[in-house]
Amino acid sequence: MPEPTRRSAPIPPWYDDLDGSLAEGWGLLVRGAADRRSPMHTVAVATVDAAGLPSVRTVVLRAADPARWRIRFHTDARSRKLEELARRPAVAVLAYHPPAKIQLRLTGTARVLAGETAAPIWAQVTPHGRQCYRVAKAPGEPIASPADGAVMDADGQDRFRAVEVDVDSIEWLYLAAAGHRRARFRRDPDGHIAGEWLVP
Ligand SMILES: Cc1cc2nc3c(=O)[nH]c(=O)nc-3n(C[C@H](O)[C@H](O)[C@H](O)COP(=O)(O)O)c2cc1C
Repeated sequence: MPEPTRRSAPIPPWYDDLDGSLAEGWGLLVRGAADRRSPMHTVAVATVDAAGLPSVRTVVLRAADPARWRIRFHTDARSRKLEELARRPAVAVLAYHPPAKIQLRLTGTARVLAGETAAPIWAQVTPHGRQCYRVAKAPGEPIASPADGAVMDADGQDRFRAVEVDVDSIEWLYLAAAGHRRARFRRDPDGHIAGEWLVP
């Protein structure tokens, strides 16, 4: 962990406040989903592969819902991450906001939306975004030359998947000159949230 810096930033109002820290974390995720210039517009999503090993990749954060503790990203039906999620829907998500010096580590369970259920979300996907799903060959398939990976053969909707993650824990880390702050929040299936401070 970096040493606390000498130039001290003002103490934020949520510094020693568990509820306030959680609200700040969700606020960053909501802004990350809405604003492509936010450092939290992309997050790292980890799954478990067939051998039980970690598998991690960057995705665009498409939605964050603090009321439901739910986030969403989009992907291709043929992707390896979906194979992994079909086998085991457990995910870990990492988000770091360098200017805010806040790291969030989420865990949760993924649910894959397809067809009719995903149709209202597909309707919001831009023409540019839809291009990804029109590619004929499956993502990750070996090809003889890069051009083979650009052949399109469908409108893409049948390959589009929205992945919703029901978040069950969030670990918060705030790096500050005045002393780092670390906390863990858990949400049970009834929606009760409990938070506790941890040694940073
Ligand atoms: C900035 C950035 C954003 C990305 N966004 C997505 C995304 O929203 N959905 C997605 O499936 N892949 C996205 N990717 C590609 C993934 O990181 C990954 O390479 C791809 O999905 C294949 O992963 P898999 O083989 O584990 O399924 C993104 C990559 C980068 C660098």
